[in-house]
Amino acid sequence: MTTGSVLAFDLLAAILAAAGWLGAGATAVAGPRRVAMAVGAAALAATLARAATTILLARAGWWFAAEKVVIAGPLMLAAVLVAGPRLLRPAPVPFLFAGYALTAGLLVTVLHGYPVSAGAGLLAVAGVAGATALTWRFLGSGPVPRTAVVVAVAALVAGIGAAATAGAVPGVPHAHQHRDVLTVGEPAKRFTLTAGTAVVPAGDRDVAAWAFNGQVPGPQLTATVGDVLEVTLRNRDIGRGVTLHWHGYDVPNSQDGVPGVTQDVVLPGREFVYRFRADRAGTYWYHTHAASDVGVRMGLYGVLVIHPKPATGVDVTVPVHTLAGVPLPAPAVQPVAAGDPVRLRLINTDNTTHRYALAGTPFRVVAIDGSDLRGPAPLSETAVLIPAGGRYDLAFTAPDTPVALDVDGRVVWSSGPVSAATGGWPVLDPLTYGTAEPPPWSRYDREFTLVLDRGVDLRGLLPRYAHTVNGAADPDIPSQVVRFGEIVELRIVNRSLVVHPWHLHGHHVLVLSRDGRPATGGPLWLDSFDVRPGEVWEVAFRADNPGMWANHCHNLPHADAGMTLHLIYG
Ligand code: C2O
Ligand code: CU
Repeated sequence: MTTGSVLAFDLLAAILAAAGWLGAGATAVAGPRRVAMAVGAAALAATLARAATTILLARAGWWFAAEKVVIAGPLMLAAVLVAGPRLLRPAPVPFLFAGYALTAGLLVTVLHGYPVSAGAGLLAVAGVAGATALTWRFLGSGPVPRTAVVVAVAALVAGIGAAATAGAVPGVPHAHQHRDVLTVGEPAKRFTLTAGTAVVPAGDRDVAAWAFNGQVPGPQLTATVGDVLEVTLRNRDIGRGVTLHWHGYDVPNSQDGVPGVTQDVVLPGREFVYRFRADRAGTYWYHTHAASDVGVRMGLYGVLVIHPKPATGVDVTVPVHTLAGVPLPAPAVQPVAAGDPVRLRLINTDNTTHRYALAGTPFRVVAIDGSDLRGPAPLSETAVLIPAGGRYDLAFTAPDTPVALDVDGRVVWSSGPVSAATGGWPVLDPLTYGTAEPPPWSRYDREFTLVLDRGVDLRGLLPRYAHTVNGAADPDIPSQVVRFGEIVELRIVNRSLVVHPWHLHGHHVLVLSRDGRPATGGPLWLDSFDVRPGEVWEVAFRADNPGMWANHCHNLPHADAGMTLHLIYG
């Protein structure tokens, strides 16, 4: 069983146990004795199941189990000790006590999570003691025991105190405006992108969109290694403002396009000129980073391809996007001559993973996220999963029969009709693909762990159920500070129930391991990778691009709901 499924089972057991004890208490008040006994027994079984999932999660990593062991565990133990002996003689107060204890343990996991805090533990105890005292008052025999009241009041006071003092987390250091004039040489390639509202065709209808130069995706920007690119961004009428972020292209910080961090947002009627040297061949994309969730979804994105010196063969870009519920691009049929080298550049500009399958020919995955792979072997009848923001380049020599590429079962590009059922194909694991090479570093100067979760964020104007990193949400997640030249190890742990496609700006990370198993394929340099529920990724990078960089989940609604932090050079 994967850690992700244990996380799901744990939640289920916690809900059943809490509901079970509360139900047993209610039936002990009003229902038949046998029913109360049966419900109590089921609640006990669910409680033991949660104890088991807690142990399994602790073995998978402390990040997954900390609050379950430290806070929910003692509460579960107390519940079993108090309610267990009453299973044959059902009584409301012990069963309801167990119900409160299990509910408190469940809430600590769902609302608070990692890391454990004294405040959360004390508030849980206060809640259980207070609810038990009240229950006793109405259902118990004799006066409310002093201890319950004293524990409730003391824990409540201490808990509020602890929670309030824990609020002193450093916020994002004040945005730094890099205004350095870039001396990159005479631009060889000039483009102008004008952002504006537009009505564009999608599938067989017209939809309202936000577009660059009136089209979705925006114009494809193409350059050759060595070119200097100059891109003028204008905003016609996007009220929330726009910027350009070169996703996967490690530009100097001042050109990175993150509003409030590397530049001011470009408001209607304004412009901003980006300039950088194209020194790295590969497949990239650009998108607005202002109100990025809605901006990208509405269509403010496009493709950036940097070709190596002599570009050869058939070169096709397939930027996948969902616009107003319509999957893009529209299917294209492009005949290719047998023997022609073909390169398909697959780009996922959506918020969630897509599955791509190429039928009718063996192929190689020659690059991921703009980095060539080492020794990629031919694959056939194998699908690839591309995370949000990620790119895979597939290469093959055109056979004399047609080939077809589908995305989630929908053909998007083909050279003729192909009938193939690709749905059952195995999926490539890039961590075992290609030929290995010893890692370039043997020691790390710095190490960071990011534990991804959900939790209640009370720091803003309104409380929200945020996507959190180490228990905090943007802008309260402490920045990671590195020094130029350091080798930095980053561990990313997903203890939530959803996938988080991780994306660090300005750097490519080398994948070291996933779930403790080292990557055994060719060196994998990524800028976007899916950390699935229960997974632990270890990656590393060289701090060689000074500035202040966004580091966030590329499921952009998550980034917006708290899952964004910053890497800064100190
Ligand atoms: Cu493609 Cu910060 O994003
Ligand atoms: Cu996410």
